[in-house]
Amino acid sequence: MSIARAAEILRAGGLVVFPTETVYGLGADAANPHAVARIYEAKGRPQFNPLIAHVPGLAEAETHAELPENARKLAAAFWPGPFTIVARRRAESSVAELACAGLATIALRAPSHPMARELLAAFGGPIVAPSANRSGHVSATTAQHAAKDLGGRVDLVLDGGPCEIGLESTIVAVADDGGVTLLRPGAISRAEIEALVGPIESAHSGAIQAPGMMESHYAPRAQLRLDADEARPGEAYLSFGAAPPIGGETLSATGDLVEAAANLYAALRALDATGAAVIAVAPIPGEGLGEAIRDRLSRAAAPR
Ligand code: TXA
Ligand code: MG
Repeated sequence: MSIARAAEILRAGGLVVFPTETVYGLGADAANPHAVARIYEAKGRPQFNPLIAHVPGLAEAETHAELPENARKLAAAFWPGPFTIVARRRAESSVAELACAGLATIALRAPSHPMARELLAAFGGPIVAPSANRSGHVSATTAQHAAKDLGGRVDLVLDGGPCEIGLESTIVAVADDGGVTLLRPGAISRAEIEALVGPIESAHSGAIQAPGMMESHYAPRAQLRLDADEARPGEAYLSFGAAPPIGGETLSATGDLVEAAANLYAALRALDATGAAVIAVAPIPGEGLGEAIRDRLSRAAAPR
C-alpha cells in the first residue's frame, strides 16, 4: 500500500525517503531533472554532487552504462548489495544529466533491502538517491533520523527499520580498459574486490576522486579525536571492544566490526547531542570493514 503510494509520488516528481541495507536514501525519479533538483534543494547541498542511480540489477544497469567485463564480474558477485559501480554513461541513459553532474560517468547500485527492491519494481525505473541527510550531517540509518533531518522537505518516509549495515556502499570506478579504483570503502572490502579483479588502487593516492567525498562530508557538530585510548576531561567517549563508559557510547562492546559499522552514525548523533565539544574515539583496526569505518571517522575528524 505505502509502496504503491511511494511509486506514485516518485512518478509525480516527489521525494521519497526509503530504506536500503546501507543507509536510508532520499529518492527521486532519476529521469526527471526537476525531481532531481528537489533533492539538492532538500539536502541543502552546496554543489550538484553526482548521485547514485538505483536499479534492480545488471540488466537495467547495462542500459545506463558501458560495463566492461570487470564491472559485470563485480556486479554478478556483489549485486544486489552494498556496492556501487561508476562507469562510462551511455548517451541513451534515461538518467537526467543533472543527476550525473554533467560527468561522462554514472554511478549505479542494485540494493538488496526488500523495501528498496519493492519500490524499484513498483516504480519501474531508476531511482536516484543520496543518503537521506542534510548536507554535512551524518547519514541516516533509521527512518526517524531521516525524518528528523529532512522533515517537511520530503513527501513520504518509508520505514524499513534500522539499516543492517549502517555505512554507505563501497564505490568502485571501472575504467573503459577494465581498471578498477576504490573511490569509497564500504562493507564490500578491498580484499573481496581484489579476489575477483586483481590489485586495485585507492582513489586517495590517484587522480580520480568522488566529487562528494570532501573531507568533512560526514561531520557531526563536535570535533573528533581519533585513536584515543580514553577520554580527557570534558570529552565524550566512543569505545570499541569495551563497554560504554558512563555518559559515553560503544561501537561494539565485543569488538565486532559489523556491529560497529551498524552503530557508527547513531552513536555519533547520540554523543553530539550531549553537547560535548570533543568526541574521543577508541582505536579501530584497519582491516576489512574497519577500513570503511576509519575512512568515515577521519572525514568526520577533518578540520572544517
Ligand atoms: O549506500 C549508499 O551508497 C547510499 C544509499 C542511499 O544508496 N547512497 C549514498 O549516496 O551514499 P551519496 O550521494 O551520499 O554518496 C554518493 C557518492 C558521492 O560521494 C558522489 O560524489 C559519488 O558517490 N558519485 C556519484 N556519481 C559519481 C561519479 N559519476 N563519479 C564519481 N563519484 C560519483
Ligand atoms: Mg551522503
